[in-house]
Amino acid sequence: MPATASLPARRLSVAPMLDWTDRHYRYLARQISRHAWLYTEMIHAGAIIHGDAERFLGKDEGENPVSLQLGGSHPADLARAAKKAAQYGYDEINLNCGCPSPRVQKGAFGACLMNEVGLVADCLNAMQDAAPDCAVTIKHRIGIDRQTDYHTVRDFVGTLAGQTACRTYIVHARNAWLEGLSPKENRDVPPLKYDYVYRLKQDFPELEIIINGGIKTNAEIAEHLRHVDGVMIGREAYHNPMLMQAWDRLFYGERLPETDFDTLIPALYRYMQRMLAADPGLSVRHMLRHYLGLLHGRPNARLWRQMLSDAKLLQSNRPELILETWAKVSAAPEA
Ligand SMILES: Cc1cc2nc3c(=O)[nH]c(=O)nc-3n(C[C@H](O)[C@H](O)[C@H](O)COP(=O)(O)O)c2cc1C
Repeated sequence: MPATASLPARRLSVAPMLDWTDRHYRYLARQISRHAWLYTEMIHAGAIIHGDAERFLGKDEGENPVSLQLGGSHPADLARAAKKAAQYGYDEINLNCGCPSPRVQKGAFGACLMNEVGLVADCLNAMQDAAPDCAVTIKHRIGIDRQTDYHTVRDFVGTLAGQTACRTYIVHARNAWLEGLSPKENRDVPPLKYDYVYRLKQDFPELEIIINGGIKTNAEIAEHLRHVDGVMIGREAYHNPMLMQAWDRLFYGERLPETDFDTLIPALYRYMQRMLAADPGLSVRHMLRHYLGLLHGRPNARLWRQMLSDAKLLQSNRPELILETWAKVSAAPEA
């Protein structure tokens, strides 16, 4: 029985985002939602095998349910990385088949793997064999370049469902254009086709189908959940983390009180203190940069961001800065 059997459903999840969803961001996200699934940044299998595994895989004990997203296309390497991830307590290992960046294309993984479904099946099977207690999942697009018909993604998912044990498909509902668009443009320019993802759920009702791309509000989430099993949110959960404040209540039936700022800010302070005690070389700025969006759309959000990114205030590398800033923001007239 996979370890994930007793974990909450992937009704809501926060997308893997390079440079953004590191352990410090994930700690914040976990304080706000107890149930949403969290994803690491994409980490190349080779970095885990040959590099500093603790740096890439280290995570907080209370972080689960959490998924490690791997990049790569060599089944043996992905298997070794998956095995290490299982030892670190990840609940899920996700294969990236959606990243269009030129660097990733050069390494022949990411979105271009959508053209090599046999290899993807080998990768998923190798990962699952190496980490039998983890769920192995995939995140992909609806097609690449000119493959704009629904049958591209239907055949991709259908083949993998037939040849692997993968039951969870996270679908960024737009194509990846491998030439002519930057990774950033590839998150905005190709049109969103949510109906393709809804059709996947109709065609493969036994699979867990999760929709991603351009979703920003809890009302939009609720609408998508009428058609698919789960919703993955990327940029909005990063720039506006308090979006997650109502998730447990709205989407998981949680009755415990929602996390408020008076609980959250001291928790972040204690977390930063703990991180610094473990690694005195760590910079407070490195952690605080993920907390700049916390007051998004609220009074004094600008003062909050200004103080927490002020080079002079950051110089002394004191975690107390977050408490002092919160005190200032709370006392300031609303602006
Ligand atoms: C800064 C940034 C980094 C990203 N890095 C990854 C990544 O490492 N792996 C991945 O599968 N997708 C990555 N993505 C794509 C997101 O996971 C997501 O699919 C995309 O942003 C669309 O969702 P959204 O509209 O809710 O942001 C990244 C997106 C952003 C903004």
